[in-house]
Amino acid sequence: MIRVLNSESMEIRSSEDVVTVRQAVRRKAVSLGFGLVDQTKVVTASSELARNTLDHGGGGTVHVEILENERRTGIRLIFEDQGPGIADIPRALTDGYTTGGGMGLGLGGSKRLSHEFDITSEPGAGTRVCMVRWK
Ligand SMILES: Nc1ncnc2c1ncn2[C@@H]1O[C@H](COP(=O)(O)OP(=O)(O)O)[C@@H](O)[C@H]1O
Ligand SMILES: [Mg+2]
Repeated sequence: MIRVLNSESMEIRSSEDVVTVRQAVRRKAVSLGFGLVDQTKVVTASSELARNTLDHGGGGTVHVEILENERRTGIRLIFEDQGPGIADIPRALTDGYTTGGGMGLGLGGSKRLSHEFDITSEPGAGTRVCMVRWK
């Protein structure tokens, strides 16, 4: 059974907000005792996903949650926007695929940096990306 120990929501409306999300995720990872490598993994993923929320989703929100199950603690990040959505999720996850002139590595990279990763999206209505990194 998963328990949510703490939850915080942050707006993502600007590049400064992306930096603030990064810093908040770093702080929480440190407070949970994540090692440097694991901190970097969750912080990098958070930064890529926040950037996507801003650049592709037109801005949105992230919920940062501290989780605990029987064996370990973790961080869950839920990014939500009401942008154009993603019509073909497997294609969006493919390395090198971009609609925005980026590198096209953010979504697939974030998935590889996560223990659990889930995208739900409705074209025209928005996107929700949920990731968990356990300690
Ligand atoms: N929140 C989002 N809303 C709409 N489309 C998205 C979102 N996140 C990702 N995408 C789509 O998935 C593609 C791949 O994302 P990503 O791998 O991060 O590459 P990049 O951001 O460099 O384009 C994006 O180009 C975009 O088409
Ligand atoms: Mg990206």
